[in-house]
Amino acid sequence: MEQRTLGSQGLRVSALGLGCMGMTFAYGGQDDTESRATIERALELGVTFLDTADMYGPHTNEELLGSVLSGRRDEVTLATKFGNEIGADGKGTGRVNGRPDYLRGQIDGSLRRLGTDHVDLYYQHRVDPDVPIEETWGALGELVDAGKVRYLGISEAAPETIRRAHATAPISAVQTEYSLFTRDVEDDGVLATCRELGIGFVPYSPIGRGFLSGTIRSTDDLPEGDWRRNSPRFQGEALQANLRVLDEVNALAERKGVSPTQLALAWVLAQGDDIVPIPGTKRRRYLEENAGAVDVTLTGEELGAIEEVAPVGVASGERYPAAAMGMLRR
Ligand SMILES: NC(=O)c1ccc[n+]([C@@H]2O[C@H](COP(=O)([O-])OP(=O)(O)OC[C@H]3O[C@@H](n4cnc5c(N)ncnc54)[C@H](OP(=O)(O)O)[C@@H]3O)[C@@H](O)[C@H]2O)c1
Repeated sequence: MEQRTLGSQGLRVSALGLGCMGMTFAYGGQDDTESRATIERALELGVTFLDTADMYGPHTNEELLGSVLSGRRDEVTLATKFGNEIGADGKGTGRVNGRPDYLRGQIDGSLRRLGTDHVDLYYQHRVDPDVPIEETWGALGELVDAGKVRYLGISEAAPETIRRAHATAPISAVQTEYSLFTRDVEDDGVLATCRELGIGFVPYSPIGRGFLSGTIRSTDDLPEGDWRRNSPRFQGEALQANLRVLDEVNALAERKGVSPTQLALAWVLAQGDDIVPIPGTKRRRYLEENAGAVDVTLTGEELGAIEEVAPVGVASGERYPAAAMGMLRR
């Protein structure tokens, strides 16, 4: 598997990561046995950059990874996150917490659940508007000094926040949604700021939360309780408009002789060597297909054809419900 570098501090990772969130959180159809087998297969294929968060569950995702990786910790690059606040009862509070005392407690919990003495990449999941970013990042820098964390990242932050955080302690990776259907970072200064500052970029939901695979054509295709049933993009007229674009993208995949998911991932990978997508799956079958995207090279002509059918802003409907949209780009 090709390796890529995230940021200027030396973090090397597999060109494609594995998003583990859906194994225990947000999406339906969970199956621990297949999820465990998927993580093990990922290691065999060289997909060794694993993405989780304390909030996924909460806690169950890190626990699953910790148990699968027992005795195999050195084979992976482990990324986790803090900041979507988890209360003393172990449930999400719906708030964001960037206070130093809070994150010091969170990293210790993550290390315990993951069964390790260090996390390779530790992200601030969302920015807390009530805590100056320098306070949060001063404390994160101390975690690096203490050896609990090797590299630092931030998710869904605004360009100015990225700049201020990076001036406090170096950021190696910015993680933000990015796919053929969510190209905001090309327009809002996030990608440009990363490139100016030498920060790597980790697109999450690079398959558009599964939509770009072509397997979701109606909310009825989603299991009960699946988060996407509440996503504006997967509903009503927005969904119908998105399906029309999807059909055109899928026709390009067919012409190329690759699957729709492989085309979507190859497009993200083609946006630069500083980009490392983390497609999510809990099935070996999908993982194997997705890993194949690393070997798909898109010509200039093919990239142009994709640009024509899926330009910046092509998706209809917001990517999160209103309250969650308010937590982005702070
Ligand atoms: N920083 C943040 O705020 C944030 C937010 C969201 C996600 N993330 C991270 O990013 C990772 C990836 O994002 P995501 O999981 O939301 O979205 P995604 O990677 O765009 O899509 C995942 C969905 O696509 C399906 N899928 C994957 N490969 C497929 C294939 N070859 N054919 C058909 N369907 C396929 C999966 O199905 P199955 O689940 O059935 O395998 C799952 O439903 C997450 O796991 C998480 O680690 C971070």
